[in-house]
Amino acid sequence: MTPQLIVDTRDRITRIELNRPDKKNALTPEMYAGIAAALAAADADPQVRAVLIHGQSGCFTSGNDVRDFLELPRGPADSPASGFLRGIAGAQKPIVAAVGGPAVGVGTTMLLHFDLIYAAPNARFQLPFVPLGLLPEAASSLLLPALAGYQRAAELLLLGRPFTAEKALAAGIVTEIVPEGELLARAREAALALAALPPASVRMTKALMKRALAGEVAGRMTEELGLFGERLRSPEAKEALSAFMEKRKPDFSKFS
Ligand code: COA
Repeated sequence: MTPQLIVDTRDRITRIELNRPDKKNALTPEMYAGIAAALAAADADPQVRAVLIHGQSGCFTSGNDVRDFLELPRGPADSPASGFLRGIAGAQKPIVAAVGGPAVGVGTTMLLHFDLIYAAPNARFQLPFVPLGLLPEAASSLLLPALAGYQRAAELLLLGRPFTAEKALAAGIVTEIVPEGELLARAREAALALAALPPASVRMTKALMKRALAGEVAGRMTEELGLFGERLRSPEAKEALSAFMEKRKPDFSKFS
């Protein structure tokens, strides 16, 4: 069976490939746990200088597996997903991402914790938490307004519509837009450049930049996770998530 996550380390770079293309790289608990473990291993290995995360050129990830959302009996506070979120927020080594195609939900919010993000023109970002009857996670309710300004964040988080690489660049989510055929090579070149730099300077600079919001990020993640668990059990979310699985339009008219 092909693994849903491919992790390897060479040239001082740990590469994490999301590899569940038949489900648009929707993230399962095993994938969350695997990414968190790869990040922890990268931080623990002095020879690793940077992490590179990517999917295929036509798909980054469609976010959390919607079926798992539906079948999750309780809040996600102690789940692999929350371990993943703590992992990306606390990673000491720089993380580079190559994003092509859909980057939905946590596929977009994880980027707010990364360091260099390269996107192809075909990248389609989306934060559909509200349309799904849920609410933002990964401290995106804090980080996105801080990064993009309140009004830009409000459009992306309240309407929850897909947006282009240009819009993501304007919002500050993306470092650079590169041609689809060069996406992975460009991201890898940036990871190699980081790997060639003085490692302690890189780590300390990242830590200093992250420090300003670190406490608030941890607190907001905990708050969001508690509320997210409540929303997952709500009739609004059940209607939205069932509608996705049944490939129909959701109907929220009966909710007050
Ligand atoms: N969870 C579970 N399955 C998913 C999924 C997800 N997040 N995203 C896609 N899939 C599955 C589809 O159900 C479909 O499965 P099937 O072939 O068994 O029917 C398959 O992946 C292909 O998806 P499809 O919707 O046909 O591809 P598309 O190219 O038309 O659209 C997306 C791609 C990502 C825009 C669309 O699938 C989508 O919106 N997914 C849901 C994203 C989402 O809401 N994530 C949660 C965020 S909080």
